[in-house]
Amino acid sequence: MQILKVCINLIMLVLGIETSCDETGFAVYDSKRGLLAHSLYSQVALHADYGGVVPELASRDHVRKILPMLNEVLAKSGIGKQQIDGIAYTAGPGLMGALMVGGSMATALGFTLDVPVIGVHHMEGHLLAPMLEDTPPEFPFIALLVSGGHTQLVHVKGIGQYDLLGESLDDAAGEAFDKTAKMLDLDYPGGPVLAGMAEKGQVDRFDFPRPMTDRPDLDFSFSGLKTHTRNLIDKYRGKKPLPDEQTVLDICAGFQEAVVDTLVIKCKRALVQTNMSKLIIAGGVSANKRLREKLEAELVKNKAQVFYARHEFCTDNGAMIAYAGCQRLLAGEHSDLALSVTPRWPLQDLTSIEELS
Ligand code: KG4
Ligand code: ZN
Repeated sequence: MQILKVCINLIMLVLGIETSCDETGFAVYDSKRGLLAHSLYSQVALHADYGGVVPELASRDHVRKILPMLNEVLAKSGIGKQQIDGIAYTAGPGLMGALMVGGSMATALGFTLDVPVIGVHHMEGHLLAPMLEDTPPEFPFIALLVSGGHTQLVHVKGIGQYDLLGESLDDAAGEAFDKTAKMLDLDYPGGPVLAGMAEKGQVDRFDFPRPMTDRPDLDFSFSGLKTHTRNLIDKYRGKKPLPDEQTVLDICAGFQEAVVDTLVIKCKRALVQTNMSKLIIAGGVSANKRLREKLEAELVKNKAQVFYARHEFCTDNGAMIAYAGCQRLLAGEHSDLALSVTPRWPLQDLTSIEELS
């Protein structure tokens, strides 16, 4: 019954729910008219005192916010619950308890409204977020996924057709930003704060390595940059907990430049090796201004193009989940109504939507 409903409905209105970590995100996506509305609540203030996400607090806060946020996004989009044709929720990867909050609401709503529900892969959501923009890239392209938990280069031939070209062997790029920020005693969340300070620093005062760029492969390693930063802090702080303000700014600038250069070098290499000319960047670190600037400047030299989502859709949000879920629902895929979340879930395990239709 549900499959029939999906297949005959070539236009779909999909509710997207994101609760994989510390953001409660909702969106309504119309396959014909595009994104109707989205709402986002960040738990940053809740976790700030702990310097990182506390999983149990995250789950409880999602529980508190999920109903008001649903009502908010419906009001913003001007639609009633009964008009929803399908529901997409983040089923993984992410924090188990947090994922279950969004999953429970999605399955309960699917059951009561008698509409199909789909569990979406969080990184597929990120990967497809640039499709929400006015000039979306066409398949195939190379994707650089850079978030708090992932750094991957992927050859994307279509939705669900993902060949992994390389990934981080240790810390993800966002994780390296966050851990380095913590060493410098910067406010949580560290990545964007460090990036802001880097703008005021002198980029070439310190010599940071560009890890693994002397190797032909497309893997990354960022943990050595942390050690390098630790050693610099120790060298310049004297008897104080931290070096002077200008030195901290210069360390931020040097660290950011090293991460950005490493990502840019590997992206260019991935494009050459696959003979492609389109790159998308997605995930929290794709909001980084310096990364965007340097990729644009470098790729234009090779007549290649870079695509990314607007700032608010680089980090976690419901719109990317609504979009990704909508594409899969339109292809006839749906999950059963037994709640299912997958905290660890390789992107390459996803099914191509061509195989579904
Ligand atoms: O995609 P995201 O919101 O959540 C995950 O799926 O992990 O990414 C969050 C990560 C964090 O590590 C955060 O510090 C980093 O993205 N991030 C940034 C910037 N904005 C967010 N890193 C560097 N520069 C930024 N402007
Ligand atoms: Zn994310």
